[in-house]
Amino acid sequence: MLVSLAHSGAVFDVDMANNKGIKTALVTGAASGIGKGIAERLHAGGYAVVLADIQDEAGESLAAQLGERARYHHLDVTDEAQWDAVLSEVAGEQSLQLVVNNAGIGAMASIEETDLAMWQSIFAVNSTGVYLGCRKAIEYMNRERDSSIINIASALGKKALAGTCAYSATKAAVISLTESTALHCAEQGYRIRCNAILPGFIETPLLLESIAANEDPAGMQGYFTGLHPVGRIGRIEEVADAAFYLASEAASFVTGIAMPVDGGMTL
Ligand code: NAI
Repeated sequence: MLVSLAHSGAVFDVDMANNKGIKTALVTGAASGIGKGIAERLHAGGYAVVLADIQDEAGESLAAQLGERARYHHLDVTDEAQWDAVLSEVAGEQSLQLVVNNAGIGAMASIEETDLAMWQSIFAVNSTGVYLGCRKAIEYMNRERDSSIINIASALGKKALAGTCAYSATKAAVISLTESTALHCAEQGYRIRCNAILPGFIETPLLLESIAANEDPAGMQGYFTGLHPVGRIGRIEEVADAAFYLASEAASFVTGIAMPVDGGMTL
């Protein structure tokens, strides 16, 4: 089926039967929060989106809501075999040009409160999951076509708090992994860029719920707000717009950066 698609001001024909002419993006952790916002932004911008998550019901429902050019796959980012299964299928059928490694888990815990099991479980998703996402993206993308990898790190990977011991360490690892991956791709002559986004605290449903559930919601809201010199928490769309930019041709000379989207939190 041929349809006209408005994208970046231009209108061009695309073959929806096999997605020729359409860039495909895979977003991990796409069933909720920031990942959902990034998937929606990319879809609105003309990408075919593959939503990947372990929350199958929410992921399927978002894919159905987005409709054409959206599909859902179960993908636990800590499992190499699942990466291979999903990416071999996607890259076999479509032009995979963007992988957004967004899936992540958090815990507010100091060094004394962080036991080995907690440390290892956060590292498995936030760091090992992103390492696998970068490695598999390079393996399955066409290295001769402009493509990119975006890793969602955190402002807390640059500026830790006493209560974010393991979480901050996982995000610092992602920043370094991003640099190393970007350098490797550049040195090998692959046309794959790799960048990280460092969001400050973002108004996701989970954050808003945790503020509401606190015994002093106003105090908690004030604490989070006060971490950002601009005087507010960030919005999901602000992170999604940064991802859309980094994936776009407008960022064709940008690789290896750790882009804060944090209202000045890390200054
Ligand atoms: P969220 O909890 O709303 O979404 C995370 C998604 O990742 C969920 O859909 C969850 O099912 C999925 N997920 C968890 N483990 C997974 C696994 N093993 N495999 C595949 N999917 C998995 O969280 P949020 O806030 O949207 O976070 C998204 C990313 O943004 C995370 O990497 C987080 O660390 C980062 N971030 C969030 C900030 C915030 O204020 N919300 C601030 C800075 C960074």
